Amino acid sequence: MNYLAEPKQFASWSTDAAREVVLRHKGERGPLLEILNDLQGTFGYIHEDAIAILAEELNLSQAEVYGVVTFYKDLRTEAPGGFLVKICRGESCQSVGADKLVESAQEVFETKLGSTNSERSVTLEEVFCLGNCALSPAIMVDEKLIGRMSTERIAELADEIRGVTL
Ligand code: FES
Repeated sequence: MNYLAEPKQFASWSTDAAREVVLRHKGERGPLLEILNDLQGTFGYIHEDAIAILAEELNLSQAEVYGVVTFYKDLRTEAPGGFLVKICRGESCQSVGADKLVESAQEVFETKLGSTNSERSVTLEEVFCLGNCALSPAIMVDEKLIGRMSTERIAELADEIRGVTL
């Protein structure tokens, strides 16, 4: 099976581009989270220099911005690997073996949840419901949702990723 869609391309970090993203939202009410999501969508992560830009533009302390960045598990402070693999640990997926999938994924991708492997080909993350409960257990590879995942299929996915990153 072909598990991979085109990998998501992120822009390289640039303070000018980041400032543009911030300014786009500046007039909105309580825009911090929206901006952080937009920055992550643009660059793939929240660069450390974004903290100072956000604090300055939104008239917040850097500690306040940093507190929000570190509070939300979905926000990343490091650039992700070539493929972003999210494993669902919501109730439905949990009831049909999500823990086992996590174990296998950590093994085949040689990284821990929340981390990127040493080749930087895969970042492994957990999520809590991908809206695909009928086909649990579910995972997402970049933007592609895959249901009825198994330890065997995780190994096939790893092979496929190896094939395109070698
Ligand atoms: S709990 Fe996993 S898709 Fe809903």
